[in-house]
Amino acid sequence: MLPGDFPSIIPTKPDRKDMVRFGVLGITGLAGLALVVIILLFVISAWLGRPISMFGYDEGPDQPIVFPHTTHVQEVGLDCTFCHRNVTKGASATVPSVGLCMTCHTVVGDESAEIEKLRDYHSQGEPIDWVRVHRLPDHVRFNHQAHIQYFSEKNNILPAAVCATCHGDVGNMKKVRQVEPLKMGNCVDCHRDNNAPTDCSTCHY
Ligand code: HEC
Ligand code: HEC
Ligand code: HEC
Ligand code: HEC
Ligand code: HEC
Repeated sequence: MLPGDFPSIIPTKPDRKDMVRFGVLGITGLAGLALVVIILLFVISAWLGRPISMFGYDEGPDQPIVFPHTTHVQEVGLDCTFCHRNVTKGASATVPSVGLCMTCHTVVGDESAEIEKLRDYHSQGEPIDWVRVHRLPDHVRFNHQAHIQYFSEKNNILPAAVCATCHGDVGNMKKVRQVEPLKMGNCVDCHRDNNAPTDCSTCHY
């Protein structure tokens, strides 16, 4: 045996067939990895995108205009009922029209891209399609006015202070999300505690 002659550990040059085999293995490997990543991303985004809070930390849905409750409630000091005008008067709270926003935003917010969008809706006379965050099934009846009136009188608080019972601290949310499950059991429990009606026709059509 000559020095330097180590045939057993000198790798043999891969032949054409090996090259093809490694190539195919590599490509299927990469494709498999990509598939796993795509599935993971899908699961994660579906999880985070859930409108209903599972552990209380996920965000609400994206809205056509990034509307900050924080700015309007805390900095500008607006009352919930200033914008959700019907909340003390009828079944639905209602979301304000573009016209109400424009009472301030014809002048306020010149540098903001979001305000530009708002002004475009206004000049085209189009309503904003806000994404609903809370929605009960169609067979359920709910009435804001009855709840707001009852609890503001009972606890001697402003109507706006009642909202948090069911909606959490919206004034601190960058994006509104649902924090209470608002399932039948939750409604009925509170009705029982307050001697409110619990017969089926109270809440069902
Ligand atoms: C300047 C107007 C304005 C004020 C003040 C305001 N809101 Fe809103 N609110 C909106 C708009 C616009 C939307 C729809 C866009 C969104 O969900 O962010 C909304 C959405 C909501 C929603 C979600 C509605 C749904 O789709 O289920 C709740 C709940 C809510 N507001 C509660 C409150 C409460 C509670 C306060 C007071 C702490 C408040 N808002 C103050 C304008 C306002
Ligand atoms: C009473 C006056 C008033 C009303 C009504 C009002 N806003 Fe505002 N809004 C403000 C002020 C003040 C700011 C803070 C502006 C700033 O920081 O430059 C603001 C900030 C904003 C911003 C953030 C701008 C940015 O990019 O920082 C958006 C978006 C916005 N408002 C949308 C709306 C919408 C949509 C409505 C109607 C549902 C509305 N506003 C109603 C006064 C108002
Ligand atoms: C007793 C629980 C409860 C209280 C208190 C309450 N809400 Fe609601 N809110 C709901 C439920 C339930 C829905 C979904 C209603 C539906 O889908 O018909 C809702 C929906 C909404 C919506 C979107 C749909 C609509 O009605 O326009 C807004 C905005 C809203 N609430 C604002 C408010 C504000 C502002 C207050 C306080 C002044 C308030 N809510 C107090 C339970 C409550
Ligand atoms: C925090 C406690 C509380 C929760 C949560 C609650 N309710 Fe009520 N609800 C009341 C009380 C108290 C009354 C009685 C008000 C009165 O006597 O005027 C009432 C009254 C009602 C009424 C009768 C309104 C009318 O026209 O007289 C309906 C309908 C109703 N609730 C539906 C619901 C539904 C649906 C839910 C769940 C999504 C719900 N409530 C959650 C406390 C609650
Ligand atoms: C205080 C209000 C309230 C009362 C009273 C009430 N329900 Fe409901 N019910 C609800 C709400 C809210 C839902 C929808 C829950 C959800 O979002 O899944 C519901 C859902 C249902 C569903 C659909 C099943 C489901 O899980 O979605 C049935 C069936 C039902 N209720 C039957 C009844 C019957 C029967 C009675 C009388 C014994 C009754 N409810 C009384 C509020 C009420």
